[in-house]
Amino acid sequence: MTLTLAQTSAASAVCDALLVAVRPKNRRIEVVGKALTPALATKVIAALTAMGATGKSGEITKIGGLTGFKAPLIVAVGLGEPGAKGSPEATRRAYGNAIRALGGTKKIAIVADPDPAQLQAAAMGARLAAYSFTAFKSKNDPKSVPPASIVLLVPGPSTAAQKQSIAEVNIVSNAVDLTRDLVNTPPNALPPIALAAAAKKAVAGLPVTVTIWDERALKRDGCGGILGVGQGSINPPRLVKMVYAPRGAKAHLAIVGKGITFDTGGISIKPAKNMDEMKGDMAGAAAVIAAVQAIAELGLKVKVTGWVPTAENMPSGTAQRPGDVIKMYNGMTVEVLNTDAEGRLVLGDALAMAAKDKPTLIIDAATLTGAQRIALGSRTSGVMANDDAARSQVCAAAEAGGEAMWPMPLPDDLLATLDSATADIANIGDGFGGMLSAGVFLSRFVPDDQPWVHLDIAGPAFNDKAPYGYTPKGGTGAAVRTFVQVAKGLAAG
Ligand code: BES
Ligand code: MN
Ligand code: ZN
Repeated sequence: MTLTLAQTSAASAVCDALLVAVRPKNRRIEVVGKALTPALATKVIAALTAMGATGKSGEITKIGGLTGFKAPLIVAVGLGEPGAKGSPEATRRAYGNAIRALGGTKKIAIVADPDPAQLQAAAMGARLAAYSFTAFKSKNDPKSVPPASIVLLVPGPSTAAQKQSIAEVNIVSNAVDLTRDLVNTPPNALPPIALAAAAKKAVAGLPVTVTIWDERALKRDGCGGILGVGQGSINPPRLVKMVYAPRGAKAHLAIVGKGITFDTGGISIKPAKNMDEMKGDMAGAAAVIAAVQAIAELGLKVKVTGWVPTAENMPSGTAQRPGDVIKMYNGMTVEVLNTDAEGRLVLGDALAMAAKDKPTLIIDAATLTGAQRIALGSRTSGVMANDDAARSQVCAAAEAGGEAMWPMPLPDDLLATLDSATADIANIGDGFGGMLSAGVFLSRFVPDDQPWVHLDIAGPAFNDKAPYGYTPKGGTGAAVRTFVQVAKGLAAG
């Protein structure tokens, strides 16, 4: 899939479909962008009006065989009221819908709004929608094949800002796609060793060093959380560290991702219904791997350390039991009252290790709790932190990147619900505020003076319903764009 800029006029663009953005204006519609001559714009508007198009957000209207164009098909995408122009997310979604409506079309040209922010939003929405996961299909449905190329038509010589925008869209959307691929990969094809190998492969050729802890190294270093969760599987656990340290970097961002390659719940086994979706329980890890790739490719002047604790949570004769006490990397003992609360165990080790470097900021992303979906729904991630400024910084980055995230508290009183009669702490609370008590548990593995933000992406990481906007079914790539935005902010100082 290639996404490029071209100066070609809309009339002479050689493509299978020409995408034109329209919006309502004075009870009529107007064409967005300047790649159409006034005469052609009038013609397109007349044809669209005859078909009842209004330009409202998300509306898709197709016109075939309009004279004056080389393109055999013109597709109008509604962007809504002009005020909606202020929302890049509305633009991303509108273009996403349009690209999805064109499934099976090979070459798409877009009459783009040359404003750099709008151009980038259009490009990102279109590019993120051009995704399908077919690695395990013997035969592809032609309608599900994404376009091979998308060309953005902007009149006049492309500015440096426009070129930079498009380069960034390509890098970030490739990273989002990598995350989606890893999440969608079946769990038998992606055990912890394979996820660690995928991390290496993702940054091959980039200035990133990768270190992998095997079971022996995990034991040597006292990573009882990762080992405890992984001990029930024949596929052994791993810990991956990825370091990107460009010269001149002033800030250090550590990102940590939950990498449970399959979560059966362990001995506290989950119900069978939808258990297959637990192949996506490594979505946080996938986002970390892909974000390190994107940040290194962008060459951002910020040190980034990616941490991926990965294990398969299985029930077996060697699995950990409810009631087991394990010792974590930071020396704390944990009573494992529920083996299905495993994410916090692998993350506890990794967070404590990440904190040893004293980075400027630690952010973890994890498909941590079903309670996240109860509290915020399937599309909005929960953002918790031990530092209000850091939480606001990450929420703002999410907004800028186009990800729905919302601040949530870490109430002190929930710590008491994690009391254990036997160990320093239990791995489950009393069932109320489950997203928050998981966050409070994690906070015990980060020193109080270490800025840290926790993202619960349980719902947003995996779309089990129909595609919408630029979001496909299955893995969504949640948290990647937020990580990149935070890194950009830290690089800018
Ligand atoms: N991976 C799950 C959380 C999850 C559920 C993610 C649904 C995506 C969709 C996590 O490991 C888990 O099982 N959490 C338990 C915690 C409970 C035992 C305290 C949960 O949320 O039920
Ligand atoms: Mn679980
Ligand atoms: Zn899990």
